[in-house]
Amino acid sequence: MTVITTPTATAPDRQLERRAARVLLANWTGASTVPSPALYPHQWSWDSAFIAIGLRHLSPRRAQRELETLLGAQWDDGRVPHIVFNPAVPLDAYFPSPDFWRSTTAGRANGAPARTETSGIVQPPVHALAALLVHRSDPALSARRGFLRRLYPRLTAWNAYLTGHRDFGGQGVPAVLHPWEPGMDNSPCWDAPLSRVTPAPPDSFRRADLTGGRAADRPTDADYARYVSLAAHYRDHGYRDRGTAHAFVVEDPGFTALLVVSEHALAAIAAELGHDPGPHTARARRLTAAMTRRLWNEEAGVFLSRDVRTDTLIEDRSVAGLLPLAVPDLDPDLVRALVRTLTGPHFGLGTTVSLAPSYDLLGAAFDPSRYWRGPAWFNTNWLLERGLRGHGHTETADTLRRSILRAAGESGFAEYVDPRTGQARGTTDFSWTAALTLDLLARPLTEGARR
Ligand code: SER
Repeated sequence: MTVITTPTATAPDRQLERRAARVLLANWTGASTVPSPALYPHQWSWDSAFIAIGLRHLSPRRAQRELETLLGAQWDDGRVPHIVFNPAVPLDAYFPSPDFWRSTTAGRANGAPARTETSGIVQPPVHALAALLVHRSDPALSARRGFLRRLYPRLTAWNAYLTGHRDFGGQGVPAVLHPWEPGMDNSPCWDAPLSRVTPAPPDSFRRADLTGGRAADRPTDADYARYVSLAAHYRDHGYRDRGTAHAFVVEDPGFTALLVVSEHALAAIAAELGHDPGPHTARARRLTAAMTRRLWNEEAGVFLSRDVRTDTLIEDRSVAGLLPLAVPDLDPDLVRALVRTLTGPHFGLGTTVSLAPSYDLLGAAFDPSRYWRGPAWFNTNWLLERGLRGHGHTETADTLRRSILRAAGESGFAEYVDPRTGQARGTTDFSWTAALTLDLLARPLTEGARR
């Protein structure tokens, strides 16, 4: 394990680095990292991408392994499942467990792995970016192990699954079929589309996420009953995208922006491997244009989600609508508008709060504690920091970087925090919080977000 902070790092930074590294070492299982041993005891898809981005500073080899394990469970249709289950973990440690998803049987027709149990839904595609950053942390090791060469076809198939199978709106923007897919499970943005879903009977499942945690920090039982019903419906239709009547079909700007970022990363990976980056760059541009056409809302000053079933924009402002800031070649007018919204009254960055909340501070549904209905999360703030820096908003990025590091340290690497007080919410010793702390510590202020 290497030391990552620069020689000029302060003693508190070095201490923070040691603490963050301890979290990642403790949460490593030998092939991947659990987001949290108690709450999420398997491998999660977008968690692993963020984890790899931090882990690369401790061990590039381990970071490569993290992504290889995840992509090893990719389905033949290209989807990367949101959970890869560890068979050594008891079934009742997490719900929905492998015997609920039954991927090896129900997912057979779409090429689910025969011997590894996974879920059948997906999470945001941060993986090509993670692979590129992991590669750059040790290009010689990466070349020796054929890391990019092996991952490139898998990452390409993953992005193609999303732009192909998931283009329900017919405009090139991928749709999510379950509120867990955009990663922001109980965002108020899903309240309206979710209200059309028939809930599963309350006695038909048992949540495992409330043991040891505060119920007020987690999604409600009413939401869970709908999550279960949607997932069961997808499973019972063999996880088929087409030809299945999906009750929840939404285009999400955060998910889409990360796909754009990943296409740009694939272009860079293709160039590293001596392939033509052109098709990836062209796809990224097309997707950016489609995202803007479908999801940008001038009046709200932010990208919004689109309910594909009703073909209407969902009015709620969430942090997902700010994530297009991470797109490198976003129209400068949109960048300016997003920065205004981020620092204005709805998200309050630098005025009322020091980390961007997950949901509109002025929204009627804002709740500072409940998962994605208001708390500030570290992955979204890391993405905003990267976007701000990439677009030349250096001072705001520097301030945000310091705030992320302070909140991560003070909260014990919380899963999320109350954006008004910085108090820990959810669980602590959360892997991506520790990982992204390491990443920010490793990046001297002046170096930009490219590394
Ligand atoms: N975030 C969800 C959970 O609580 C779905 O992965 O398990």
